[in-house]
Amino acid sequence: MGADTELLGLLSDGFFHSGAELGRTLKISRSAVWKRIRILVKSGIEVYAVPGRGYRLTEPVELLDSSTILAGLNDKARRLLSGLDILTEVDSTNLYLLQKASAGAPSGYACLAERQHAGRGRRGRQWLSPFGGNIYLSLLWRFAEQTPALSGLSLAIGIAVTNSLETLGVTGIGVKWPNDILWQGRKLAGILLDTAGEAAGPCHVVAGIGINVAMPAGAAISQPWIDLREIVGHRIARNALAGRVLQHLLLTLHQFQQKGLAPFLPEWDRLDLLKDKDVTVQLADRTVTGRAQGVNQQGALLVAHGGVTRAYHSGEVSVRGTE
Ligand code: BTN
Repeated sequence: MGADTELLGLLSDGFFHSGAELGRTLKISRSAVWKRIRILVKSGIEVYAVPGRGYRLTEPVELLDSSTILAGLNDKARRLLSGLDILTEVDSTNLYLLQKASAGAPSGYACLAERQHAGRGRRGRQWLSPFGGNIYLSLLWRFAEQTPALSGLSLAIGIAVTNSLETLGVTGIGVKWPNDILWQGRKLAGILLDTAGEAAGPCHVVAGIGINVAMPAGAAISQPWIDLREIVGHRIARNALAGRVLQHLLLTLHQFQQKGLAPFLPEWDRLDLLKDKDVTVQLADRTVTGRAQGVNQQGALLVAHGGVTRAYHSGEVSVRGTE
């Protein structure tokens, strides 16, 4: 455990701790405590420092803990998991695993971070990733050969994340093609797939999941968003949630590798937020409109217009009249 993690562990209850007390526990001087606190603050962690009282985090934090997360996995998921890194801070958990993959990390390797300073969203967007409140999780999976069906993987992962939230009692959520998880039109979770490897040979995918669990008030996010705290009315335990999501992801990737998208299609139909909605699809070179009709066997969005139904493999979709 690094010194910062140790200090964070002491502060995680959200109560004041004096410099003297922290110094005694960490076996360092009060000025060394102050230096450590400054490093935390520089890395984006909000710490109140009040003369005469000491230091405290702005909110209590349940720090990520690998043994609690692993305890949430069943035997099958544990066998599929080849490694789990818990990081206090990283640029992006996806980039971290892409680097590990290049260095030979095996399929089923996962990582979680307390904070990302360069969290990545789809289409080159930023993913706001403040410390200690949300889930930033990535999983590496290796495929023996590239198959066209890999295009449906992002839908299967959207289903996995939604199902894992449902098992924790979160209701009223669904998936907007290809994999935005929304609650009443507001974004709760996002998925970013990074694929690397040969066009017709072995390849690997890093599936990155960001879930808004408890965002700081006034977070600067450029689209309507929601967090789990607002949906369920309390802070969901992050380690239990991380374990549940990881379990669903591992089993989903395993099943997808063997059977492709087909077994997931009925569940897609249940969770599909665009079904029978009038939509606009923003393509690279033009915009199309029509009525969304679900997805085909490859996971492409079906849109009917003027009696013709066409399949779209990529594009930014909005529901007409609501966005
Ligand atoms: C989206 O734009 O909807 C996708 C957001 C994906 C965010 C997650 S957080 C964990 C992983 N690491 C990243 O840098 N991005 C993904």
